[in-house]
Amino acid sequence: MQIKDYIDSNKERFLDELYDLLRIESVSADPKFKDSVDRAADYLVDQFNKLNLDAVEKIKTAGHPIVYAEKIIDKSFPTILVYGHYDVQPADPYELWDSPPFEPVIKNEKIYARGSCDDKGQMFMHLKAYEVLKKLDKVNFNIKFMIEGEEECGSDNLEKFVSENKIKLSSDVIVISDTSIINNETPSITVGLRGLSYMEVELTGPNRDLHSGTYGGAVNNPINELCKIISSLKNPDGTINIPGFYDNVSDHSAESREKINSAPFDISHFRSHIEIGEEYGEQGFSTTERIGIRPTLDVNGIWGGYTGEGSKTVLPSKAFAKISMRLVPNQNSKDITKLFSDHLKSICSISCSIKVTEHHGGEPVVVDTNTKGYKAAFDAFKTVWNKEPIPTYDGGSIPIVSHFKKELGRDSILMGFGLDEDAIHSPNESFGLYNFYMGIETITSFYQNFSKK
Ligand code: BES
Ligand code: MN
Ligand code: MN
Repeated sequence: MQIKDYIDSNKERFLDELYDLLRIESVSADPKFKDSVDRAADYLVDQFNKLNLDAVEKIKTAGHPIVYAEKIIDKSFPTILVYGHYDVQPADPYELWDSPPFEPVIKNEKIYARGSCDDKGQMFMHLKAYEVLKKLDKVNFNIKFMIEGEEECGSDNLEKFVSENKIKLSSDVIVISDTSIINNETPSITVGLRGLSYMEVELTGPNRDLHSGTYGGAVNNPINELCKIISSLKNPDGTINIPGFYDNVSDHSAESREKINSAPFDISHFRSHIEIGEEYGEQGFSTTERIGIRPTLDVNGIWGGYTGEGSKTVLPSKAFAKISMRLVPNQNSKDITKLFSDHLKSICSISCSIKVTEHHGGEPVVVDTNTKGYKAAFDAFKTVWNKEPIPTYDGGSIPIVSHFKKELGRDSILMGFGLDEDAIHSPNESFGLYNFYMGIETITSFYQNFSKK
């Protein structure tokens, strides 16, 4: 039997199994969902046992569990380490979903559910790809799966686990499906990811909320002060106004930039699918470059004062914001965190006090394309999609990837199958059925290419 035939004749079951996972509300950021996160881990344990893998384990951490499984069939065969995450982002605001986020449905040939693309659907393709090859007796590699439950909140506990289990996790290649392709006519392989520094800022003015008439005009308002600080963080040309921020940014050569800009990019599609009048960003760089190879700073949330019904005349005591910075090689998350903190403290008026805390960070990544793993992925796309994949720099972050490099000494092959319009982290997240089944097939091809002598 051919691989494609096996996939075709098991389509419905693959989907049903994924549905069971999508129904579990494994939101890692919110303690309210702790039991669900745990159940998602149990579900994977069950799936790995059904695949007859060995050493299947739900590993406790200080946070959510890691699920591990392996099949070592012959020490002389190459070993593939698959990483993915079973946790998802919060589904809020629920009212903006057309169907409930944890009740998967198919519409327009897409699976709609939180995690359908990021990353349950994509991670699950690896389990199915392995099943296909196993059933067709085509497994001539060893495999290790490590699926975590804390990617969406920074992977801190996984980092510790990786550092402490280098031998257990040793492999010849690491592969991750948690990124996107350009579009379904233009496959691509991710060769760069941005890093991240995620900060929270708290400003305190007076020790209590004040009457905005009796005090207004004579006491600094921490919300006003916070807005002033935030608006000073970007220059008119779109660059970031934090001293030292660009010191270690490595510039791409004219040749490299030309290559990046030669990848197909449909600006009118970009505008229309998120309904913006015009793109916006750092002067002198294309949209592809702004997302892939330039750092940025964004306010993710801002709050304080009175936001309830009607009006309340109040001069608030406190103001808050969550601010993230996306980083590029060779910026370092710890250094940027410090530059940000020092700068904000230095510009905040003494009429307010300021507290800056770090949420989580991650380092930027570039993947060496001159490796057996990259070639195996390249050839897999070429065979299955009938097109050579284009190397792309994605703007998102997967914090563990730089840690793998540091601790396990390996680049990760980032062969994702999502699309920008899959709306990961947003309401109505989706994952195309085409992408799901093509992904499974491409992964089988990758596993086989990689294990060829
Ligand atoms: N899968 C994404 C990262 C991603 C998305 C990479 C699209 C490339 C293209 C991942 O789950 C994610 O969302 N990561 C977080 C980082 C984390 C520390 C919260 C991110 O990028 O915001
Ligand atoms: Mn992800
Ligand atoms: Mn994510």
